[in-house]
Amino acid sequence: MTKTTPGHQGHHLEHLLIGMLNDASHDAQGPTLWIVDENLSAAQLQAIHPRAALLAITNRFEVGEALRAAGKQVLVNDFDFAALPVTSVARIVYRVSKERALVHHCINEGYKLLLPGGTLNLLGHKDDGIKTHGKNGEQLFRNKAQLQKHGIAYCTTLRKFSQLASANDNPEWLDSKDYARLRSCQAGGLEFISKPGVFGWNKIDHGSELLVREARQVLIGRTTAGPGKGAGLGSVLDLGCGYGYLLLMTADLPFTRCSGTDNNAAAVLAAKACFEQRQLAVSVTLDDCGEHLQERFDVILCNPPFHQGFSTSSALAAKFLAQIRKLLADKGIALLVVNQFIPIEKVAAEHFQNITTLCLQDGFKVVQLS
Ligand SMILES: C[S@@+](CC[C@H](N)C(=O)[O-])C[C@H]1O[C@@H](n2cnc3c(N)ncnc32)[C@H](O)[C@@H]1O
Repeated sequence: MTKTTPGHQGHHLEHLLIGMLNDASHDAQGPTLWIVDENLSAAQLQAIHPRAALLAITNRFEVGEALRAAGKQVLVNDFDFAALPVTSVARIVYRVSKERALVHHCINEGYKLLLPGGTLNLLGHKDDGIKTHGKNGEQLFRNKAQLQKHGIAYCTTLRKFSQLASANDNPEWLDSKDYARLRSCQAGGLEFISKPGVFGWNKIDHGSELLVREARQVLIGRTTAGPGKGAGLGSVLDLGCGYGYLLLMTADLPFTRCSGTDNNAAAVLAAKACFEQRQLAVSVTLDDCGEHLQERFDVILCNPPFHQGFSTSSALAAKFLAQIRKLLADKGIALLVVNQFIPIEKVAAEHFQNITTLCLQDGFKVVQLS
């Protein structure tokens, strides 16, 4: 699941992307729309100084914050383009996402937003499916895609016909799996609400499953033994909650308050819908690693995202652990699952005195920190 992008490879693509955004003055007929998800660092975002009107749309909280801080106009939502008038955009720049349903959704919506004669630039590497996305786009745009190679980065350009299609024209939309729709899902005997765009949206992650098994044992143990016997477990936070699996699977435990937070707008929509359907009182917030949470938690559950977009990020591991320390109450415990090869203990030792490996199984490890 995790894939490392060597520095020089990422460099070509980021260089190309930043160059295209900064050079977005070529078409004065309307603004450029930048569709951006999780694949650029804050430093790279700062390098963007467009010469023409640029509007960004992102589903990631911290990307939105960084863009706003750099003075850019940005919409933060689950790639809901409804706020933008149709045929109002001269150019769209999009470094393709990992998930095909989302790419198709953005191509479809982008097509509606483009002015006649406007262009969609899809950027990516060969193994990001960039050529296939270009070919699929040809079906909707009814126009040949232009593929350009820049080092090991590719840009596919699709141009909307200058003549507007007739009213009864029926474009061949790409299959986006009805991206925006929240839906009932079933996996591993569990029913939940989710949607494309959320981490493992219609599945149960095996690591999360192991975390739940171990966490339940530890937490039930805390309610039935020791000085706090019979007492509640206090408050719980799922840091990076996705559609809410960890909290759904521990909803029967005697927590006094439940919270979940994620930086992905799609995850927050799904988790809120999930808990509402089950009539569970869970506060769900869109945030970067729970930075804006004011309270401390007695229990933190976390299956952290140690891969960001197309590349692995060890900085992300350090950030999650530092935040867990900050958000954990004095006598609280954190329970995490990570890939076995991640040396989490090393980073955790900077923040925690007690680090216990609860289980090593199927390439995962579940760790307790306090
Ligand atoms: C491995 S998934 C776990 C999801 C869920 N807890 C589960 O067990 O199914 C990691 C989650 O962390 C979220 N995430 C990534 N970066 C984040 C950040 N900076 N702040 C909050 N959540 C983040 C991702 O969107 C994703 O939902």
